[in-house]
Amino acid sequence: MGMCVMDFPRRGDWGSRPGSPGWRMGCPGSRWLWLCTLRLLCIVPAGEPVQRGDRDTNAGFPKAMDNVTVRQGDNAVLRCAIDSGVTRVAWLNRSSILYAGKDKWATDPRVVLLTNSKTEYSIEIQGVDVYDEGAYTCSVQTHNHPKTSQVHVIVQVPPQIVNISNSISVNEGSNVTLLCLAIGRPEPVVTWRHLSPPVRGFASEDEYLEITGISKEQAGDYECQAVNEVSSPDVRKVQIIVNYAPYMSDGRSVGAAVGQKGILRCEAFAVPLAEFEWYKEEQRLSNGLNGVQIKNIDGKSMLTFFNVSEEDYGNYTCVAINKLGFSNTSVLLFGPGAVQDHNNAPAGMTSSLWLLVIIFVHFLFKF
Ligand SMILES: *[C@@H]1O[C@H](CO)[C@@H](O)[C@H](O)[C@H]1NC(C)=O
Ligand SMILES: *[C@@H]1O[C@H](CO)[C@@H](O)[C@H](O)[C@H]1NC(C)=O
Ligand SMILES: *[C@@H]1O[C@H](CO)[C@@H](O)[C@H](O)[C@H]1NC(C)=O
Ligand SMILES: *[C@@H]1O[C@H](CO)[C@@H](O)[C@H](O)[C@H]1NC(C)=O
Ligand SMILES: *[C@@H]1O[C@H](CO)[C@@H](O)[C@H](O)[C@H]1NC(C)=O
Ligand SMILES: *[C@@H]1O[C@H](CO)[C@@H](O)[C@H](O)[C@H]1NC(C)=O
Ligand SMILES: *[C@@H]1O[C@H](CO)[C@@H](O)[C@H](O)[C@H]1NC(C)=O
Repeated sequence: MGMCVMDFPRRGDWGSRPGSPGWRMGCPGSRWLWLCTLRLLCIVPAGEPVQRGDRDTNAGFPKAMDNVTVRQGDNAVLRCAIDSGVTRVAWLNRSSILYAGKDKWATDPRVVLLTNSKTEYSIEIQGVDVYDEGAYTCSVQTHNHPKTSQVHVIVQVPPQIVNISNSISVNEGSNVTLLCLAIGRPEPVVTWRHLSPPVRGFASEDEYLEITGISKEQAGDYECQAVNEVSSPDVRKVQIIVNYAPYMSDGRSVGAAVGQKGILRCEAFAVPLAEFEWYKEEQRLSNGLNGVQIKNIDGKSMLTFFNVSEEDYGNYTCVAINKLGFSNTSVLLFGPGAVQDHNNAPAGMTSSLWLLVIIFVHFLFKF
């Protein structure tokens, strides 16, 4: 329909065609007429209806197959069913002749003739690429009637992520934009999901993931998926690290008798992980000094007294520090009989309370 310019070689080129002595003599033989017909076909839209489907036996010839869908890199076979009344055959790509009869017109080595029989005229395009997509025409001449049949080659490309943001480390409250660009045919649908912790639905339903004022809960792995119907999705992961200043859970005071072991603990949530310092009043404690040990593991700190003495009792402060700030909490080391404020309920008291509960429950079941 829309193709109207036939891609004929200039007159000087004709002679270079192999196996066509008629051209070399400059004589417009039957081939000339045939090619003129092809040109006419293009200028004057074909009056014959375009036929599709091999099973339709009532339809006239030629019959090209249904549209051909191929993956990029695969081979596409273009078949055209013909009958004995057909005198000339050709396959065209848009308006240029690929093959006319057994003669190859295309310079592209990927185009080869497969079948040139009384019933079928087929070519193959090897290693199909996206620019091969489009209309191909099987053109025949029967008893001086030119006829055509069209087939569309549709090229599919699996989804592929071609550009994705790197993993990043940002401070809490920052604005974050991640990008995920994908190619494919049909155009892939790109989405973002937050993997840890898993949230239902999508974090974003396009190439851009935009987070305004990021919170620490929004930290973690994000997955970009590019999906089309051609093959399995292409999936890539990006990590967002959200840095924040330490915050601490309340410390628990500990009771220990003189001569015993006593351990004070504190915990801080922070990214990057906090470093710890312990103070007694204004005095900073050092590891290994005065029979104490300080041990830090995974955001937790432990202050151990190997041999508690009377002077050890008191108010201790655990300070957690990272590059974004600091936080502190206070815990008491107390001896037997010490009076506690209710905010720092001693561990000993809690366990005796449990003992009471257990005795009470035991008692209940007995009767
Ligand atoms: C073949 O492909 C063309 C172009 O994509 C489309 O317009 C036409 O409807 C298709 N025909 C069939 C039979 O699928
Ligand atoms: C078909 O024509 C298009 C446009 O001119 C071209 O890019 C492509 O390579 C051709 N394919 C074949 C198989 O001839
Ligand atoms: C990826 O996309 C970004 C933003 O559009 C651009 O700056 C960058 O050069 C791209 N990288 C590659 C490898 O194409
Ligand atoms: C983050 O984005 C919001 C809204 O777009 C804007 O008001 C704010 O200034 C941005 N913050 C930073 C740190 O760029
Ligand atoms: C604990 O300290 C006291 C007083 O300094 C000492 O007499 C005792 O032997 C120590 N006990 C242990 C197990 O080190
Ligand atoms: C321990 O000291 C801190 C300040 O250093 C204070 O806020 C806290 O109330 C004290 N705790 C007790 C039980 O005295
Ligand atoms: C504990 O934090 C408070 C402010 O939250 C601060 O005034 C105090 O000096 C800190 N204590 C230590 C020992 O760093």
